[in-house]
Amino acid sequence: MSNNITIIGLSWGDEGKGKFVDYLAQKADIVVRFNGGNNAGHTIKANGIKYKFKLMPSGAPLERECIIANGCVIDPKVLLEEIENLKKLGKKINLKLSSTAHVIFPFHRILDGLEEEFKGKYSAGTTKRGIGPTYSDKAARWGLRVFDLVNPELMKPKLEMLYNIKKSLIKIYDPTWDIDIESIFEEYKSYGEQLKPYVIDTANYLNQVVDDKKKIVFEAAQGSLLGIDHGFYPFGTSSNSNALGLSAGTGIPPKKIGKILGIIKAYTSRVGEGRFPTELFNKTSEIIREQGHEYGTVTGRPRRVGWLDLFNIKYGIMINGIDKIVISLLDALEGINPLKICTSYELEGKSLDSWPIHHEIIENCKPIYKTFEGWEKRTTAEWLTIAEKGYDALPTTMKIYIQAIKDELKTEIFALSIGADRSATIVLDEQLF
Ligand code: IMP
Repeated sequence: MSNNITIIGLSWGDEGKGKFVDYLAQKADIVVRFNGGNNAGHTIKANGIKYKFKLMPSGAPLERECIIANGCVIDPKVLLEEIENLKKLGKKINLKLSSTAHVIFPFHRILDGLEEEFKGKYSAGTTKRGIGPTYSDKAARWGLRVFDLVNPELMKPKLEMLYNIKKSLIKIYDPTWDIDIESIFEEYKSYGEQLKPYVIDTANYLNQVVDDKKKIVFEAAQGSLLGIDHGFYPFGTSSNSNALGLSAGTGIPPKKIGKILGIIKAYTSRVGEGRFPTELFNKTSEIIREQGHEYGTVTGRPRRVGWLDLFNIKYGIMINGIDKIVISLLDALEGINPLKICTSYELEGKSLDSWPIHHEIIENCKPIYKTFEGWEKRTTAEWLTIAEKGYDALPTTMKIYIQAIKDELKTEIFALSIGADRSATIVLDEQLF
């Protein structure tokens, strides 16, 4: 039994992390976000209420202590709106926000859009929330941190410096642009005042609670294939959206991290640009999109969908050191026959041994598939009854599909999901956490 558990999406995000963080949060004291910002969209359905979070850790519906650690970038307006919405639902806010997380300003959002246009065919199809420009400023060491936000006398001169740099940059793309710096300062000063009660040095706090053996769930945002260092560069996000980002994003030493769960969907989906080797463009993709509700939580964009790609997932299993996996959205493949799983890629007539990380190579690869018999459609209530009965009640063809995933990935399964609700879950290892 581990005290800490991390949930990592092993594909391009949207694997159902929110649901499983919420599930594990039932046993946890604390839930921590350590990367990304409001580009994330974590959905939780519990007791008839649907929660959608972009920044708040998914422990909020259960009123767990929620920590937004230093590896995140913060749009204060979005965070305050989420706090307000939770309060309206009668939820107690138990939030700690890192003083060293970086702050997103309006010019970051504008630059995100302009840079995307400028990049042309290399554009990643970002969420245009200012995530990339804010992380760039952090690396350039002229970004503003939450500590500056809540101390207006520190924020003012730094904001002036950053504003002038950004203004000259934006004007290259758009000479008409002008936002008055005073209004940005006043707006952000007010956000700082409202957020100040939540702000602490989360690295100190987290190390203390890890040593105190508190039960902690770490919630990665996005997916491993979108990671800046080990993903589909440049068609990914700007943070290490994997277990490798956890230590840097929290200040917890790698040896204290604990167990790592990788979550995959029963098929693959992606938003944004970039090669997607198993993508489908036919009636099957339309059915999967509808049955899996594959529309972006943040942007509402229809997600691209395709067959399960275990070849790139194997790469994620390796770099994340995955202990066990979760397979979500198995119900969304109902009624589709046959089903396919990609186990490798072929390049110039040869099958590859390992996933070729460069998109220029992947563009020339063809997926190699294994074919499986599908399972019949069921109602939501029928899926819930199956979940209640457990693994043996699953359709036989689904069990064969699941076994094939397990064999191919050489990784044990922690849980299966056959519906959006917290209870539509079959846990195979109650002892893990
Ligand atoms: P950014 O993170 O907004 O810069 O977007 C970079 C890439 O990551 C784009 O292809 C986005 O569609 C994708 N992306 C960012 N956040 C998420 C997420 O939470 N789920 C899925 N894709 C995401």
